[in-house]
Amino acid sequence: NRIVLLGAPVEEGSGRRGCRMGPDAYRTAGLLEDLSGLGFEVEDLGNATCEPAPDAVAPNSRLVELERVAGWTRALHGWARDLGQRDAFPIYLGGDHSLSLGTVTGQAAAAEALGRPLFVLWLDAHSDFNTFETTETGHLHGVPLAFACGLPGFDALLGRPVPSVVDPANVCILGLRSVDKAERVLLRRSGTEAHDMRAIDEAGIARLLEPFLETVAGSGGLLHVSLDVDFLDPGIAPAVGTTVPGGATFREAHLVMEMLHDSRLVSSLDLVELNPFLDDRGQTARLMVDLTASLFGRQVLDRPTRGH
Ligand code: ARG
Ligand code: MN
Ligand code: MN
Ligand code: MN
Repeated sequence: NRIVLLGAPVEEGSGRRGCRMGPDAYRTAGLLEDLSGLGFEVEDLGNATCEPAPDAVAPNSRLVELERVAGWTRALHGWARDLGQRDAFPIYLGGDHSLSLGTVTGQAAAAEALGRPLFVLWLDAHSDFNTFETTETGHLHGVPLAFACGLPGFDALLGRPVPSVVDPANVCILGLRSVDKAERVLLRRSGTEAHDMRAIDEAGIARLLEPFLETVAGSGGLLHVSLDVDFLDPGIAPAVGTTVPGGATFREAHLVMEMLHDSRLVSSLDLVELNPFLDDRGQTARLMVDLTASLFGRQVLDRPTRGH
């Protein structure tokens, strides 16, 4: 029943300023107190720092702040590889989504060391499945899932071959409503399970999540969850640089977290893309903290736990 918090104040991947304030916004919003209140022993490790990466040479001139992002990737990969093998649940407090370049591959390395397959649930308006070749913006928060799935061309980050990657068949993306043309092709080819908002409207978010959780349970896997603020509708979560209308509702988002709690499968979590500079009186930071509390078992009434 231990949780460790690690701040990852990276903002260079987003092409704008503000995400570096994310970790402190979660602390201010009471993340530590809320999780302690649920009966967990919570340790705040403070913030990670960026490693120098002077050897990270951009394969093309569009990539923004590659050296910094590579430095963060190396630092966070090391942290996640270690924390993922400890007897505690790591929560990575972002920071923009480029931090997942390090956390997901690090958790994959940890899972490998433990002899368990790693699964990833990506809750996001975007698929973040660009490569260094396909990115239109050059913003490296648009590439982490492709990198984690082992797509080629990312040598500048962790060298080649990437120490550990995730099988694209072990990935489920929920919440899509902005996918670039090239990403759409790469996604289709990879065989990743990806659901857009239409699928959520038609089936209901629980029906989409359930079979994925059954697959994870059936294969004895560990589950990493990467929660991007823009998964949520901008009306309830304005503090993000990449708002896209028509996102997950308050109730859909809590339901996902509650189902994840009941499954007992989740072993690590990224909270990404919170930009406190854009928030409205802390409402987005608070919502992200409340969603995290749901993932750790906060509920309105008792209910019989399902036998997993
Ligand atoms: N697909 C766009 C890009 O490559 C948007 C990515 C947004 N990613 C994010 N983590 N918010 O730049
Ligand atoms: Mn994202
Ligand atoms: Mn996004
Ligand atoms: Mn961007």
